[in-house]
Amino acid sequence: MQPATPTTPPLETPRLLLRPLALADAPEIQRLFPQWEIVHFLSSVVPWPYPPDGAFRFIHDISLPAIARGDEWHWTLRLKSDPDRLIGAIRLMKREQKNRGFWMAPAYQGHGLMSEAADAVTNFWFDVLKMPVLRTEKAAANLASRRISEKQGARQVGTVERDYVSGRQLAEIWEITAEEWHSRRRSVK
Ligand SMILES: CC(C)(COP(=O)(O)OP(=O)(O)OC[C@H]1O[C@@H](n2cnc3c(N)ncnc32)[C@H](O)[C@@H]1OP(=O)(O)O)[C@@H](O)C(=O)NCCC(=O)NCCS
Repeated sequence: MQPATPTTPPLETPRLLLRPLALADAPEIQRLFPQWEIVHFLSSVVPWPYPPDGAFRFIHDISLPAIARGDEWHWTLRLKSDPDRLIGAIRLMKREQKNRGFWMAPAYQGHGLMSEAADAVTNFWFDVLKMPVLRTEKAAANLASRRISEKQGARQVGTVERDYVSGRQLAEIWEITAEEWHSRRRSVK
């Protein structure tokens, strides 16, 4: 018998609590997420203008079923110093080209927080889920997202054109293997 796929566990980093996404998070996400600064480099599957039930629909119709199938793992992000306030989200997806997605509220960007969250879920991807490779896709102009992949030791392996909320543009595919991740981790210890 195959072992059951692990569901989303709570994780933490030096400054963050990563909590499994729940339907109760919908109002806070609805308040925070629909901002141009957050959505412009996200895939055009994000409805824009964002409907009033956008967060509820996303969690209820898409995320929770994907989590239940064992295809996705979703976390909300909170500062340990302010655990009641949701400030962003990160998810992992069992797909061919795009295994991770994230967003951070603008007021909290630029402090290295998503880098911490990305490292925590990347450990989960390789150590717990035992995936052989992590691929991410990002608009070439999304320099912050690009930098996170670069800092993780990922390599750019291709480019494609994709439809984003802000229109069609060049996207980069980045990749890191389990072996590369583990040897990077050994070298930074
Ligand atoms: C991408 C995103 C999650 C980054 O979150 P964050 O908490 O600000 O990220 P961090 O602070 O951990 O790291 C960002 C890195 O990018 C760098 N960076 C940010 N903006 C940059 C820019 N315009 N040019 C170059 N580097 C930039 C930062 O300096 C930092 O690198 P450093 O640690 O070497 O200084 C955030 O910008 C966001 O939510 N964007 C909108 C949603 C989105 O685009 N998601 C990704 C889709 S692929």
